[in-house]
Amino acid sequence: MKSIPISILWLVTLQFCWCSQASVEICSTFSCNPTEQDTIMFPFHVPRNQSNRCGYPGFDLTCGRNGQTFLNLSSKPLTVKAIWYTDQLLLVSDPDKCIPKRLLTLNLTSTPFSYGAEDMPPYTFLNCSRTKITNLDTSPFPWTSVVACLSGSDYTVLTTLEKESEEELVDKMKCKVMKRVNAAFWWKEMYEGYFPPDMSDVSLQLGWSVPNCGDCVLNGGVCSFVNDSDLAVACFFPPDSSGLPRSAKYALVLGAGIPAIICMIGLTYYISSRARARNQNRGYPNIESSPAIFPQPMILTVGLDRPTIESYPKTILGESKRFPNTSDGTCPICLSDYLPKETLRSIPECNHFFHADCIDEWLRMNATCPLCRKSPQ
Ligand SMILES: *[C@@H]1O[C@H](CO)[C@@H](O)[C@H](O)[C@H]1NC(C)=O
Ligand SMILES: *[C@@H]1O[C@H](CO)[C@@H](O)[C@H](O)[C@H]1NC(C)=O
Ligand SMILES: *[C@@H]1O[C@H](CO)[C@@H](O)[C@H](O)[C@H]1NC(C)=O
Ligand SMILES: *[C@@H]1O[C@H](CO)[C@@H](O)[C@H](O)[C@H]1NC(C)=O
Repeated sequence: MKSIPISILWLVTLQFCWCSQASVEICSTFSCNPTEQDTIMFPFHVPRNQSNRCGYPGFDLTCGRNGQTFLNLSSKPLTVKAIWYTDQLLLVSDPDKCIPKRLLTLNLTSTPFSYGAEDMPPYTFLNCSRTKITNLDTSPFPWTSVVACLSGSDYTVLTTLEKESEEELVDKMKCKVMKRVNAAFWWKEMYEGYFPPDMSDVSLQLGWSVPNCGDCVLNGGVCSFVNDSDLAVACFFPPDSSGLPRSAKYALVLGAGIPAIICMIGLTYYISSRARARNQNRGYPNIESSPAIFPQPMILTVGLDRPTIESYPKTILGESKRFPNTSDGTCPICLSDYLPKETLRSIPECNHFFHADCIDEWLRMNATCPLCRKSPQ
């Protein structure tokens, strides 16, 4: 991995001199599974397929046989589900379907990653011995789940986000606190405000702060090393590109990116409204003062008002489903296909099309085009 054959280096050098005026090599993006648009770009790279200088140390990925992308932490692979380059966050899951087990032993000290959830309430893991606890037993405890993959026949491991639940479980059910971790989990049904009954196979959020490339990607640039000898990075705007580079376009749409962000907004909203209701009912201390249960810098952006959204052009899709400027037949927000007679809306500034329902929802929370991040104002 460390030694690149001289001939490859030479080729790469020749190529940059030949095709681009940029002073450094701009690595092309890579994908373990091109059909999924799962773009791998700086600081991540796949050493097996890309030059050593295409990625930052510690951001090495491997491709799996079935098109999965893996990140090794503590020399064991985690499956990469999504990377948000602009927010410098990624989601990983455990190939063995027990992310809490990995979490309890994970030491991120020697990696570039953190949980990116330091300001959030921790998940407390509890070992409840002498009792077999089921999902139903945990239902009186809000934001509490069983971790089936860590439980045995005579003990159950639970995890909770709520201090009150933790205290009650310790008092009444004699559970022992195993660990508190300021991590954020993501799961599919999040947007329904639904806490999974079993936390075994959820995704874990990881964040990074170095190298700091989020703003560069957001502005349509390509982050890269400045030279061949050290770790300084800079933002490059390839001179030959017309408009946004492909990489920036896909950075946000990666995997379940947008739906997940929308889900996260919904869940945060749901949790805070539930917390409010609970506080009123039970006189709990107000936990509303914590900004959000989940750490999502991207949800703090302010969206557009309804009249502005309504002023954007709508199109009813004809039987032929033909309309300008869509790369394929799938709405990148809700990931469902465009069907005849459906209503689409486009963003005038960049002429990108989406299902009207999906883009309206998005624009209410974000004032930018989800594909190119251009702001309509
Ligand atoms: C990556 O490299 C491996 C081995 O060098 C090769 O088998 C594989 O086809 C490459 N993948 C892509 C997508 O180029
Ligand atoms: C990750 O670990 C696996 C084995 O556990 C190994 O085959 C693979 O090469 C490692 N990948 C990287 C990028 O270190
Ligand atoms: C994590 O690993 C570092 C060394 O790499 C060590 O100093 C630190 O104590 C470890 N932390 C925990 C919680 O084990
Ligand atoms: C939970 O406690 C039981 C008994 O006290 C123990 O046997 C078991 O290993 C513990 N489980 C975990 C995951 O620590």
